Amino acid sequence: MSDAELQNRQLLTHLADGQFHSGEVLGRLLGISRAAIWKRLQRLQESAGIAIERRHGKGYRIDGGLDLLDAAAIRAQLDPEALRQPLRLDLHWSTDSTNSRLVEAAQTASIHGLVCLAERQTAGRGRRGRNWFSPFGGNLYLSLGWSFNAGVSTLEGLSLAVGVALARTLEQLGIEGALLKWPNDLLIDQGKVAGILIETVGDMDSHCQVVIGVGVNVRMPAAAEAAIDQRWSDLQRHLAEPLSRNRLTALLLNQLVAMLSQFHRQGFAAFAEAWNQRDLCAGQAVVIRGLHSAIEGIACGVDQRGGLQLRTAAGIEVIRSGEVSLRMQ
Ligand code: ATP
Ligand code: BTN
Repeated sequence: MSDAELQNRQLLTHLADGQFHSGEVLGRLLGISRAAIWKRLQRLQESAGIAIERRHGKGYRIDGGLDLLDAAAIRAQLDPEALRQPLRLDLHWSTDSTNSRLVEAAQTASIHGLVCLAERQTAGRGRRGRNWFSPFGGNLYLSLGWSFNAGVSTLEGLSLAVGVALARTLEQLGIEGALLKWPNDLLIDQGKVAGILIETVGDMDSHCQVVIGVGVNVRMPAAAEAAIDQRWSDLQRHLAEPLSRNRLTALLLNQLVAMLSQFHRQGFAAFAEAWNQRDLCAGQAVVIRGLHSAIEGIACGVDQRGGLQLRTAAGIEVIRSGEVSLRMQ
């Protein structure tokens, strides 16, 4: 981490309580002048989009404070099953993409149980090279590394099972109406709240390492309006009480660990019913667009392997490749 980044981190950690802090105290903390503090905070406002209030005679504050990620707070809320796993939390202030971090690490080491989290991503990725808007401090950008020994064919449906784990996490938090859109999105009230990106590294036939990437919008800044080209939403607007990102992270890890253990034993079949109960498109007319073709039909849920069943004029067709886009008509 560069000196400037370290100083930014110190500053924001101090201001995270939402109280006023004088320029003098902050200057002393960082060993720089009051004028330098003001400049640094101005730059942070621009680069990280954090609104910092400056009041004469009182100093600076972040109205409402910040809900920063904290490894100890996350660990304290892990359940016994998750604690039995070799989970290692790796928190970043800023990184290009938490998935990229783990894909890179997997080239030379085991990433089993490694959890990479970031306050923001500068190059967050969605499927097929799309951009995942990842502003500072408000959302969840999490990647979990896991090892599988029986080749990539046993991973069929994993991305959907992750969707079930995520939906269950939100239900545990009292959020209603979270629905899954095949193959990798979670929506509430038609707005995309979360996306899942699974990447594999290693031997296709035997040992491989998987990176499970999950992005969840918790508190989106207004800037998202211009940055995301489809309907989106975030969790906070569906909750009365403020949601702690540390709690969300721990509950999601608990669910992911439980899901992975069951997935390892039984594959996607164990999650098909749970997925279908939360299917956004069930019974709806949809179109599936591939690179060169499009199929129209009525979405009829997923089969035991996670393939999307489509009722077309020619009968039931099952779409297995996730490299297509599903749109409701
Ligand atoms: P499909 O996979 O069916 O084409 P999709 O349009 O959601 O669905 P994805 O590749 O799954 O495509 O997701 C990337 C897209 O998600 C981006 O192109 C953008 O429209 C949207 N997006 C980017 N960042 C966010 C975010 N933080 N929250 C919600 N949506 C986002
Ligand atoms: C999608 O909807 O296309 C998937 C979006 C996945 C975003 C998450 S955020 C954490 C992880 N790191 C990334 O770069 N992408 C995933």
